[in-house]
Amino acid sequence: MKPRTIFTCQACGYQAPKWQGKCPDCNNWNSFAEEDYAEPNITDRKANPVFVASKEEPVLLEDIESIADKRIVTRLTELDGVLGGGIVPGSVTLLAGDPGIGKSTLALQAAESLSANGHKVLYISGEESIKQVKLRADRLIKKESANFYLLNQTDLNLIAESIKKISPVFVVIDSIQAISNSAISAGCGSVSQVRACAGGLTNLVKSLNTALFIIGHVTKEGAIAGPRVLEHIVDTVLYFEGERYSVYRILRAVKNRFGSTNEIGVFEMTNTGLKEVSNPSQVFLTERPKGASGSMVVCAMEGSRPILAEIQALVTRGSFGFPQRKAEGIDYNRLSLLTAVLEKRIGLNLGTEDIFINVAGGLKLEDPACDLGIIIATASSFKNKAVPFDLVALGEVGLAGEVRSVTYANLRVSEAEKLGFKRCILPESNLKDAALKTKKNKIECIAVSTIKEALDIVLV
Ligand code: TYD
Ligand code: MG
Repeated sequence: MKPRTIFTCQACGYQAPKWQGKCPDCNNWNSFAEEDYAEPNITDRKANPVFVASKEEPVLLEDIESIADKRIVTRLTELDGVLGGGIVPGSVTLLAGDPGIGKSTLALQAAESLSANGHKVLYISGEESIKQVKLRADRLIKKESANFYLLNQTDLNLIAESIKKISPVFVVIDSIQAISNSAISAGCGSVSQVRACAGGLTNLVKSLNTALFIIGHVTKEGAIAGPRVLEHIVDTVLYFEGERYSVYRILRAVKNRFGSTNEIGVFEMTNTGLKEVSNPSQVFLTERPKGASGSMVVCAMEGSRPILAEIQALVTRGSFGFPQRKAEGIDYNRLSLLTAVLEKRIGLNLGTEDIFINVAGGLKLEDPACDLGIIIATASSFKNKAVPFDLVALGEVGLAGEVRSVTYANLRVSEAEKLGFKRCILPESNLKDAALKTKKNKIECIAVSTIKEALDIVLV
């Protein structure tokens, strides 16, 4: 019989019996690759040697021992914070990010810290030889511990054997695209391999109560099987991001079964590895220009953490008939909307102007409380008038030009106060907040209800 093949989209995992130019599921072009088709045989455990059959009986919820306080603390406080207070034993975490962003470095530092703390760890590198990992470790680590095992292996079954033999508390797979299951004919890094390997490893570590970190590369084009296909298999998904040429890196939880999402951790890449940045607001404001128009400080909530960021706007006369709009760090559509509000409600003639917005330090702001800051920065650049240096603005802006209340106003105002800001513009409805009124603030809170009021105060 002719061997049967199947075509798999390498971007999203969609399968079809025939090659197609465009994936009907994720709309990517030219993403189909031919793979051997094997009839799924769920009864044959031998075909999948790492599969562990569960014969567990139902149990009462109240009889189950709570694992909440059994978290393993890595002592990298930024990482622990993002995970929700440490690593949960038996959990699977996907650490994804662009190549070269520092995933291996972070995983190695976490593993080293755990081993120094007396936990047995196993670092499996499919990309680098153990000598190379050792070279890197020498730079990062001062004192080596006896609990740190290294393995250079790409075969899933041999990896599974090593994990069973050593039975560590924490395992790192670097990276999932480099390992393969010989039972599957598809190439390394293809969707089928990535999925099969991650699924097998997840089953294994859950049965051993070992915590697993899976490193996965994401490429912008989605040319190599993205770790996106894994997001539903794992417990926690962490994205490590940052601008390539900036030293700051942001670790973000986009899914977390054991903690809140949208928590972030900030790191600085140095020549001795990643250093934690415990006061990110300070970092993102260090290079703020004094007396320049178009610069405004806002306070965004990242999870439970207020972070001050500088929004920069540049409004210049466009040289072509069609004005350019560029947004770096904020949503492009949000910029279009806020520009329209400025035109209609304030009467600024922005129709022929090029507008560029940038958030300093490579931060990405999604918090609507930054709206007022974007409006002020844009108007400030348009009028070429600088905003006072000691001022922060908070507020969501509505289509009528009204300034709407923000969440966690107290936390945000305190953060601004801590960093020495003297005045804060905030929505009227937030000032009514009892806590804000009674608190003896060193920072002056100025309430506004429309963007016009805000601009009258700021751009005098
Ligand atoms: P790496 O962890 O290898 O990235 P990834 O695993 O995500 O591909 O980190 C690569 C970058 O980090 C590399 O460009 C060099 C830089 N780096 C430092 O600046 N200092 C260091 O101590 C280390 C280990 C790496
Ligand atoms: Mg790496």
